[in-house]
Amino acid sequence: MKSTDFIVARDDLQHRKFVERQLPDPATLPDEALLIKVDRFAFTANNITYAVAGDTLKYWELFPAPDHFGNIPVWGFGDVIASRHPGISEGERLFGYFPMATHLVIEAADVSKRGLRDAAAHRQNVAPVYNAYARVSGDAAFADRQGDYQALLRPLFMLSFLVDDYLEENAFFGARSVILSSASSKTAFGLAHLLHLRKDISVIGLTSAGNAAFVRSLGCYDEVVAYDEVTSLPADRPVAYVDMAGSSDLREKLHRHFGEGMKYSGRVGLTHRSSSPNEPGLPGAKPAWFFAPDQIRKRAKEWGPGGIDRRFGAAWAGFAPMLDRCLGIVEGRGRAAVEQIYRDTLNGRVPPDQGHILSVSE
Ligand SMILES: NC(=O)c1ccc[n+]([C@@H]2O[C@H](COP(=O)([O-])OP(=O)(O)OC[C@H]3O[C@@H](n4cnc5c(N)ncnc54)[C@H](OP(=O)(O)O)[C@@H]3O)[C@@H](O)[C@H]2O)c1
Repeated sequence: MKSTDFIVARDDLQHRKFVERQLPDPATLPDEALLIKVDRFAFTANNITYAVAGDTLKYWELFPAPDHFGNIPVWGFGDVIASRHPGISEGERLFGYFPMATHLVIEAADVSKRGLRDAAAHRQNVAPVYNAYARVSGDAAFADRQGDYQALLRPLFMLSFLVDDYLEENAFFGARSVILSSASSKTAFGLAHLLHLRKDISVIGLTSAGNAAFVRSLGCYDEVVAYDEVTSLPADRPVAYVDMAGSSDLREKLHRHFGEGMKYSGRVGLTHRSSSPNEPGLPGAKPAWFFAPDQIRKRAKEWGPGGIDRRFGAAWAGFAPMLDRCLGIVEGRGRAAVEQIYRDTLNGRVPPDQGHILSVSE
């Protein structure tokens, strides 16, 4: 039995191919191992960022590929088709981090009623969240369209939730408006939705001209401005910048425009893939990466067991209905679909109102 894997050249993401990988015979799987058929997964610009940061943040280590290629991690669902773990049955459905492939073998550990983790040695250099699988068989919140929303948005909305919490905790660093770049991205509009619920803070979305109408239609941005018009924003108000685009030019333009009124400058994403080291001496707050695990650790301690999950669950419940209105799920199965959506996402050609759910299997 073989797995079909979609892999990309680490130093040239335009270069990609499918390869076959031999799987262990289910009858000779090692103790505790699970053979999983990857059923469906989401694909967004966030997955391209995993590839761009594959070496520095060790994403390439998760699902090894040969010859300087890498397998991009994706969030989605898999079904256990063979199990050597006494606590996990064949047919169980798992939600978590998978390769772009038809199959995955994991070493199940820390199995509980709600989940398990992969203890494979080569996966231990990343944050624990990337090795955790939720057991979601029969859970309506992870089935059908709701399941697709979870795969597409749950990991992104966690970031939105944490940034919203961090800004609020710090009284927005004195800002009255929060500016988001790549405002059409799912991570950005999740954050805009949360910020919009807060009083006394306005939310400004920066986007490309072609995506402005979509961003306006979301209803959670108070102002929407195209990238080439950012200097038309009044410069006399204190602002916080949350950067999903990662464009050095845009960051510099905003810092120079708002000067010392730039109270916070947090980096989150790289959708535009045109980043260079920070220009030294930019006016305003020093740009710095927002590091989600730090905020998670802090809140886990302060809010106690289940505190983050409870608050995140409530925030998700308020956000999910918006998705029915603004996001169309587009499903693609098989090699051609995977390759096309990969290329379109890499080259910024996916309309923002589409959420792609893929499967390497036909
Ligand atoms: N640090 C973290 O922990 C963390 C967590 C979650 C997400 N993120 C990051 O947030 C970013 C957004 O991710 P997402 O999955 O939410 O994105 P998404 O929904 O797929 O966003 C797509 C949008 O990104 C911009 N874009 C995408 N590809 C582009 C390209 N090749 N050229 C120019 N613009 C492009 C366009 O927005 P505009 O026209 O509006 O610019 C496009 O509408 C990613 O970089 C992701 O890694 C980081």
